[in-house]
Formats: sequence, structure tokens, C-alpha cells
Amino acid sequence: MPEAMADVGLIGLAVMGQNLALNIADHGFLVAVHNRTKARTDAFIQANPAESFGATGGGLVACDELGDLVRALKRPRRIVIMVQAGAATDAVIDGLAGLIEPGDCIVDGGNAHWEDTIRREKALAEKGLLFVGSGVSGGEEGARFGPSLMPGGKREAWEILEPIWTAIAAKVDPETGKPIEGARPGKPVAGGEACAAYIGPDGAGHYVKMVHNGIEYADMQMICEAYQLVREMGGLTAEEAGEVFAAWNRGELDSFLIEITADILKQRDPVTGQPFVDIVLDAAGQKGTGKWTSINALDMGVPGATIAEAVFARCISALKDERVLANEILYGPDTSNSSTIRDDLFGSRDSFVSAVGEALYCAKICSYAQGFQLMAAASEHYGWSLDFGSIAMIWRGGCIIRARFLQKIKEAYERDSGLRNLLLDPYFTEVIARSQGPWRRVVAAGAMGGIPMPAFTSALAYYDSYRHAVLPANLLQAQRDYFGAHTYQRVDEPRNKSFHLDWPHPERPQIEM
Ligand code: 6PG
Repeated sequence: MPEAMADVGLIGLAVMGQNLALNIADHGFLVAVHNRTKARTDAFIQANPAESFGATGGGLVACDELGDLVRALKRPRRIVIMVQAGAATDAVIDGLAGLIEPGDCIVDGGNAHWEDTIRREKALAEKGLLFVGSGVSGGEEGARFGPSLMPGGKREAWEILEPIWTAIAAKVDPETGKPIEGARPGKPVAGGEACAAYIGPDGAGHYVKMVHNGIEYADMQMICEAYQLVREMGGLTAEEAGEVFAAWNRGELDSFLIEITADILKQRDPVTGQPFVDIVLDAAGQKGTGKWTSINALDMGVPGATIAEAVFARCISALKDERVLANEILYGPDTSNSSTIRDDLFGSRDSFVSAVGEALYCAKICSYAQGFQLMAAASEHYGWSLDFGSIAMIWRGGCIIRARFLQKIKEAYERDSGLRNLLLDPYFTEVIARSQGPWRRVVAAGAMGGIPMPAFTSALAYYDSYRHAVLPANLLQAQRDYFGAHTYQRVDEPRNKSFHLDWPHPERPQIEM
């Protein structure tokens, strides 16, 4: 092939990298691809000959060495790296940095920690190189047919990347906010609003992707709690629970995660014929982005408890052997009373199930409120000027947390771009006002029936704490002043004045040594 003809380079041909390369080629771009092991590049090219891109004009070019890839690219060069976050990413960037020229742009599409992205962007900028740290959400399917893309870096870097990122992103109907489905190999969808937008400088894109994942953890945990409630307290079979989720997916809860949950619950195990969910071991894995979100919420002093609870729920699930042992020793309520508790509080199984749906929606709103509060704090801390309406907009399609209600979040920030908390938007205020009764009863019923609901209960505690003008932190401050002279402020004095009481410590008995 003549040199310098490819539109974009892509390094790292694991599934996400392969699918992203195919998606880019489907949109008429010539993609120069490289993988550390040549055999994988060759197999990929063989499996996807030029004809597979039909009339799009796009295609793939194999590059055995990094230098070949650099030489194959038009300038300014755009090189997307899809390798493991951490040392592997640094190694590829270091290799490229010695080969490319000022004005060229490296794009990291992995799940990098945003502080690494800040560091890399700065180091590359010193060499005149551009760097975009881009969140890429939607899993394998999203990468292939339309992910949600969250790019961060210099605006000039985004301008170089923008034609490709806008073309390959998921598309939503601008009126309804619903994803436009139907992309096939060689036949991308036409029209619609792209789920890709400039997020902000340096690490902003990867930060927002991290919070997306934190919210994803909370969404998944809440769905699991709703599932356990309707099965254990509602007495539904897995398939009946699947029907409930399918029905919820036709209403306000309409979302990708609810949709796949309905599918999963209706699935039977091909080996035993049992409900598939019943044969999956209840020990959750995690790769760390939920943990990063929670650690950062603690660092920033932002209440992100529901997201953190979702991470801890995975941790306690992973203690499978210990839980099995504890189950033999520890007492809970008599579960034969579950249906009595349910019927006392709800009258019928159907109204209980519908209340669980309302509780799920309320809790979900609270976890998004936490995620957006966290992003607001980071935006201020790093000077990113994040646009929350735009973030909600690009999460409406392509990503794992895509949901109908993101349109409501987008509208909330359109009404008030400086909204302090989603809960204060009239739409969300009204939803929770309407559904808080069922939500509280579900939490009460679950607690009485001994069902763990860390995300449901933490979301309710968040809601009740946030709406309380006075919290018992007055007592807590007094305790701190009592034992450590940590001082307190007074309700009848300005906030910038501190006081200490000379506490009348009672005589304590002396311990003889
Ligand atoms: C996405 C997902 C993706 C990945 C998670 C899974 O947006 O496409 O979030 O990034 O599936 O990282 O994370 P855990 O393995 O930690 O559940």
C-alpha cells in the first residue's frame, strides 16, 4: 500500500480493539492496525477482508511494527490505543512518542485511571504531542456498533479526533432520547445525535467514564436487590421475576441493564434445565473502577455511599465460604413470615412487586445524584467546567447505563445548568415525593424479612440525610470537643468562629498498674 494513506491507527487487537477497528472501518475510514503478537493481526485481517466493508470505502491495513503503523498514517496522525490500563499503556505510549511528530494525537480508549491520563497528557504535551484519554463504554457490542464516547484532552486534540469519534458513536433520536438500533457489519445507522462529546481537559474523559462505572455498579446492585426482594419476599420464580423486569423496562425504568436482566432471568441452564441465574455462583468479580469512584468520593468528601455500598456488596458476596459458614451460626428473622410481613405492608403480592419497582427508581435517582455531585466536585477541583447536560446526553445510548431517564437528567440540567443536586430538580423532587411511601415500605419489609439491601437502604439514608435541615452531627461535634478539644461552631454565631467548652469531666476511677 502507498505510505501515509490510513486515516487512523489502532493498537491492541483484543476484542474491544478489534471491534472498535471494525466500527471505524465501517464508517469509511482506513484503519492501520497493530498488535504486539503479529499472528493476531494477521488472523484479524484475514477474517475481515476489504469486501466485508461493502461500499463504505473503509478497510484495514496490517502493520507488523509500530514504525510501520506510524508510516502508514496521514498527518496529523491519530492513533487509538486499546491495551490494558497501567504499564501496558505506558509502554505503548513510550514506544509511539519516539516515532511520531508534534501535532500528532494519541488516544487512549482503555479504562485508565484519570490521574494517569493527566500525567500522560502533560508529559506528551511537553513533546508537542496531543493526547486524548477517552472513556469508551458499551462493552464489546458497543465498541462494534456504537459506543458512548467520553473524550478528554486539549480541544485541538478533540478536533482532530472528532470526525471519527462522532461517526462511530451510538446514535440517539434527539426528540425521544432513545438509542437508534439496527447497525450491522458494513451497515452503520444513519442520522441521530452522536453519543460522543468533548468532556474537558486532560483526565476529564476518563474521570467521567470512571463515575459512569461507579453508577453502573450501583445500578446493577439495586437491580439485584429488587430481584432478591421479588423472589424471596414476592415468592416469584426466576421466570416470573424476568416478566416483572420486562414490564419495568416498558416504563420509567426502561434501560439496558433492566432489559438484559429480564433476558437473563428467563434463560435456562443448557446443562441442568434450571433457571440459569440459579446455577451461577453468587461471588461477584470487579476490575476496580467502582472502587476508584468510591475512593475518590471519600477523598473529595462527597457522599457517594450508595456507589460504595455497591462495591462492598460485591466484596461481601466474594466471601462465599465465610457466608456459608455464618449461615449455620447466625440468626435472622423467621422467613416463613415473609409473606405475612409483605401482605401486612402492601395488601397483595402485586402491589409489593410494583412498590419494589418504585423503590428501585427512587434509589436509582439517588445514586445518579451522588455520581453527578461527585463529578461537580471534581470539575471544580480540576477546573474542568464539565457540562452535565451533555454528559447525560452521551450516556443515553451506547453505554452500559443507557436509560430512558437520562433524558430527564439532560432536561434537568437544561432547566438549570448550575443545579446543585438532581434531587432538587422539580421532576426528580416530584418522583420521590410520589414514590417515597412505597420505597420506605419496601425497605421496612426487606429489613423485617432479613433481606440485605445495602444500596436501597443507603440511597434512602442519603435522601433523608440530604433533606434534613438538622442532623445529629451537633452531638457528634460535641463528642469531638469533649474527648479531643476539636472545637465546635454554634448555631447562634457565624460559621467562621470556633468554640471549645471546658467540659466538666467527671472523676474516673484510677486503674492500679
Ligand atoms: C462499559 C463497562 C466496562 C466494563 C466494566 C466492568 O462501560 O462498557 O463499564 O468498562 O464492563 O469495567 O467492570 P467490572 O469488571 O469491574 O464489573
